[in-house]
Amino acid sequence: MADVAVLLALQEIVGAEQVLTSSSTMAGYLVDWTGNFHGVALAVVRPSTTEEVSAIIRLCSQYGVAVTTQGGNTGLVGGSVPRAEMSEENSNMSSMRYHFGDILLSTAYLCTIEDFDPNSGQVTVGAGSTLLALQQFVVGHGLEFGVDLAARDSATIGGMAATNAGGIHVIANGMMRKQVVGVEAVLPSGEIVSTLRGLAKDNTGYDLTQLLCGSEGTLAVITKVRVQLHRPVVTQLLVFGVDSITVALETAAGFAGNISSAEIIDRASVECVNRVTGIPIPFDSAIHLLLEVRGVLDFDALAQHDNLIAAVDQADRGKLWALRERVTESCAIEQVGVSHKLDVSFPQSVLSDAYLALCVLLERDGVTQVVIFGHLLDGNFHVFFTTPAADHEIEREVLELVARYGGSISAEHGIGRMKAEHLHLSRSQTEIAMMKAVKEAIDPLGIMNPGVLFI
Ligand code: FAD
Ligand code: MLT
Ligand code: ZN
Repeated sequence: MADVAVLLALQEIVGAEQVLTSSSTMAGYLVDWTGNFHGVALAVVRPSTTEEVSAIIRLCSQYGVAVTTQGGNTGLVGGSVPRAEMSEENSNMSSMRYHFGDILLSTAYLCTIEDFDPNSGQVTVGAGSTLLALQQFVVGHGLEFGVDLAARDSATIGGMAATNAGGIHVIANGMMRKQVVGVEAVLPSGEIVSTLRGLAKDNTGYDLTQLLCGSEGTLAVITKVRVQLHRPVVTQLLVFGVDSITVALETAAGFAGNISSAEIIDRASVECVNRVTGIPIPFDSAIHLLLEVRGVLDFDALAQHDNLIAAVDQADRGKLWALRERVTESCAIEQVGVSHKLDVSFPQSVLSDAYLALCVLLERDGVTQVVIFGHLLDGNFHVFFTTPAADHEIEREVLELVARYGGSISAEHGIGRMKAEHLHLSRSQTEIAMMKAVKEAIDPLGIMNPGVLFI
């Protein structure tokens, strides 16, 4: 009975209380944030040291047990939960090895914050530390972290590195990978690799740190992340009511170079948030544009804008930002039928046309609750809609439209399980072959998050 042997060995490594096997204790770990992905697992394991992670992964490779790493489980493409079931084609490995469910490795207890260096402005964070915990730590040192997103209470630094998360400040600070100056990780062999040196200059071959950023748990378990922090910048929040994406882009262009955030929410988004939260809708406009602008503002110039609110205090900011940040949960609360969340990006030159094309494509029978919002100056739209039943055909049509406009089928959320079959729409066969070669070289047994990134 190999599965019993595996369970006993896991309890040896982390202690019985950190190996969950009952359906009730595992339930919350086995469904993703969207509710669209449900996984099965032999056990949920919660290590609290890198050495324990190493022993767990070594055991899994010994038995050929697949591992899904989970941080805050706020991912939106199904990669944070194990496979729904054992799929036939995996039985080409010796059947003995693949007779039972996967292991879900939770990083919740890998939440140290260490080696803060005020000179370089760097700190090393346990992969299971939440974004909020890091934000609270750095504010105490008069610094700030470059990435911010609405899931900050639960999203972990390890998960954000593994997905190369984006968020609301990409225009100013770049994606998560730009903040990451080193990682510590456990490879499928159980070996521990560390690039936590955080050197500004270290030109010694392949950039293994950046290879693991965006790897979605398919190459290694990230156990620690060394990040670069920034001096805080003072910004002013401005909210505009505009008629179109084109006008939103023109309005933002007026502040070019001084923008920390440029977020858009369409009419359906603000009405949904208003219904769910009661937050008032500032303007009767098709699009609300939120701009965080650095530096001193020319209020006389601003006076020319009809629909403009400048947040005067923290409370104001909070309420206006909530109009944007609560779209995702409001849609989930109001959801009727099956939800579809597509996170896509376009070149800015076609953004307005692409937006209109998306609206036209989704204007059809059976599609309800179409909501489009996102990160304007990143060319990143979040397209949410519902259908009475699962309908992957519409998702395919949307992603094919994205490809026709030269966009990406994943702007910031990753590929996960949801978009693995569509990877060819954003990557050439040569790129996919190269990525698969890297995967097979590092994870020859294919135990790291099978079914994620590649079908
Ligand atoms: P999980 O959901 O736990 O995992 C995500 C993926 O990373 C999985 O494939 C998992 O296997 C892998 N993984 C997790 N931890 C590790 C690790 N330590 N080592 C190796 N692999 C690992 N995303 C954005 O980019 N921008 C946003 O603005 C944004 N806003 C959001 C708002 C809401 C309300 C919600 C619910 C989600 C939002 N997201 C956003 C998506 C999500 O928060 C990010 O993808 C985040 O990076 C996921 O972190 P997590 O710790 O929850 O990871
Ligand atoms: C956001 O920007 O709010 C997120 O990426 C979440 C989402 O797409 O819903
Ligand atoms: Zn987003």
